Parts: sequence; C-alpha cells; structure tokens
Amino acid sequence: MTRSTPAVRAEGLRKNHGGTAALAGLDLEVPAGTVFGLLGPNGAGKTTTIRVLATLLRPDSGYAEVCGHDVVRHAGRVRSRIGLTGQYASVDELLTGRENLVMFARLYGLATPRARARAEELLDRFDLTDAGDRRAGGYSGGMRRRLDLAVGLIQRPRVLFLDEPTTGLDPRSRLGVWGSVRDLVEAGTTVVLTTQYLEEADRLADRVAVIDHGRIIAEGTPDALRARVGGDRLDVIVREPSDLTTVSDLLRTALDTPITVHREEHRVSAAAPDRLSVLTLAVRALDGEAARIVDVGVRRPALDEVFLSLTGHAPTGSGSPERQPRS
Ligand SMILES: Nc1ncnc2c1ncn2[C@@H]1O[C@H](COP(=O)(O)OP(=O)(O)OP(=O)(O)O)[C@@H](O)[C@H]1O
Ligand SMILES: [Mg+2]
Repeated sequence: MTRSTPAVRAEGLRKNHGGTAALAGLDLEVPAGTVFGLLGPNGAGKTTTIRVLATLLRPDSGYAEVCGHDVVRHAGRVRSRIGLTGQYASVDELLTGRENLVMFARLYGLATPRARARAEELLDRFDLTDAGDRRAGGYSGGMRRRLDLAVGLIQRPRVLFLDEPTTGLDPRSRLGVWGSVRDLVEAGTTVVLTTQYLEEADRLADRVAVIDHGRIIAEGTPDALRARVGGDRLDVIVREPSDLTTVSDLLRTALDTPITVHREEHRVSAAAPDRLSVLTLAVRALDGEAARIVDVGVRRPALDEVFLSLTGHAPTGSGSPERQPRS
C-alpha cells in the first residue's frame, strides 16, 4: 500500500436485509493513518458498513477495498490486514483475559510461544496484566472493552474497525478507550470507528461521515460539520419566565447577535462561534443578575441537532429495527 492508497474506499455499496435497504449506495474514502468516524443513529447502517468492509458480509452491489484489496475478491488479503472489534464482542466469558488472547492469537495462526508472548504484550499495553488470570465474564465494562481492543490488535492490523467502542461505558472507561485509539494511530494504524456520539467523533476523528438510511449524508472534519448546524451555542437558564426579557436584552447588547428565547425551558440561547469570548462577554453582561440566573454555559450541538439540521428529521431509528428506509 503506497501512501496515496486510501485505507478504505467504497463506492455505491448496497445491501438489503429482507425488505430493508441497510446500505443504499454508500460511498466512503478513508485516508491511511487517520481516524475516521462513522456517525449515525440506530439502524443507520453503521454495523452493516463495518461488516462489509471487514469481509463478514457480501454487499449486493457496489465496490469496496481495504488497503487496495477488494473486500469480495480478495477477502483473505483484507482479513490479514485488519482488526475488528464488534458491537457484540466475541470474547469468551468463561476464559480468562490471558486465555482469550492466546486463543485468538492461535486462531490467527501464531505458534503457541508467539501467541503467549503477544498476549503478555497486549495485557501490559491495555493495563490488564493484573486481571489477566481472571475470567473475562467478571470484568467491568471498561476492562471488557480494553480486552476487545486487545483482541482486535493481535495481528497488528493496518486498519482497525471499531463498532461503537464506547457505547455503554462510564466516562472514565471511555477516556481510557480514547487514549488507546490515539496511541494506535500514533503508531500508524488507520482507525474506522462507528459511534452515536458526536462528542466521541469530535475527540477522536480527523474526519466524520454522517450516515442515515444506508447513505452518507454529510462528510468533513468535526468542526466543519458543526459549522453546518450553526456551531456551538451559549445557553443561559433563568429562574423565572419573567426574567427572560431582561436577560435576552442584556445578552443582545453584549454579544451583538440574534438571541433565541425558549420560554418553556426558561432558556435563552445564542450562537457562540468563539466559545471562550462569548462566554466571557455573557458572564460580564449578566454580572449583578445572579438572582435571575440558574446556569450559564457553552455547549456543542448534540448529534440530534446535527441530524435534524442535515436531514430535516430527528433520528427516528432508535430501538426500531424494523424501520423502513425512506423511499
Ligand atoms: N441480519 C439482519 N437481518 C435483517 N435486518 C437487518 C440485519 N442486520 C441489519 N438489519 C437492518 O439493517 C439496517 C441497518 O442496520 P445496522 O445494524 O447496520 O445499523 P446500525 O447503524 O449499526 O445500528 P445500531 O446503532 O443500532 O447498531 C437496520 O434497519 C437493521 O434493522
Ligand atoms: Mg450497529
């Protein structure tokens, strides 16, 4: 693979599950050595995309290659270059962490002494050495996810696919996984991860593609995507609805920008393209009004807002696997 060969390239991928178009003409290009985030709600087609790219599922039509190798015609070559950590992990709960790693290393064709050595390296790297002889079934969520990651790395993959690597983890474990991903990229691995969290894509990914109904509907750097939905927002929550006018007048003067009033939520909001200066100006303007204010903050748009703005509809897929694609 030369430097200019993308780590992943997909064109017009389609996949039907029964009557559902899980992939409806998906195009993707991931430059080598980067982190690419595939962001979308439940049922958008994230796992299907990963499974096609990882050679676990044949597309009905379209083309995809990983490190320059066709995922259908040269699946073996692709498999030897990738690692995969699934949304539904494959770790054996009855085995210890160490045994899991040795078993997978043996499955990947390493001789036993090499498999053992590799297991030790990975346990050490993911801070699991002390827990190595405990059954994986007793691991915490964060430890489990680190073990999943370690399994995905046994073959020193060029491209690592992570399907929702931090869904369900507490904030501390999530930070741990993010740290591991960054280390990997520094060591030259390309990472393709799926997530439902804009924040995760934001922290980790160089580029993000938003997927909806099996199609990429937007692609770019996290900042560029946020800019498309109007960027960060300043929110001021007031105690009483009668405080809304005073506070919005003060902010309008201080920020010289349109102010939106959300009466039911007791909230006044404004665009905050420069987070810190807007926050500073707002706090200064509201100095002396403390009795009226419950909270002041700058927040990044949530995935729902990005979605709403890009698609004109809220991410309705949540928890409804039978959802039909738009016609
Ligand atoms: N094996 C299958 N049989 C039938 N339908 C499927 C199958 N796998 C996926 N689908 C459907 O294809 C669509 C895309 O599913 P996919 O699992 O790729 O979404 P996802 O983005 O990974 O969602 P989630 O966030 O819930 O993991 C959904 O409508 C889903 O119900
Ligand atoms: Mg999924």
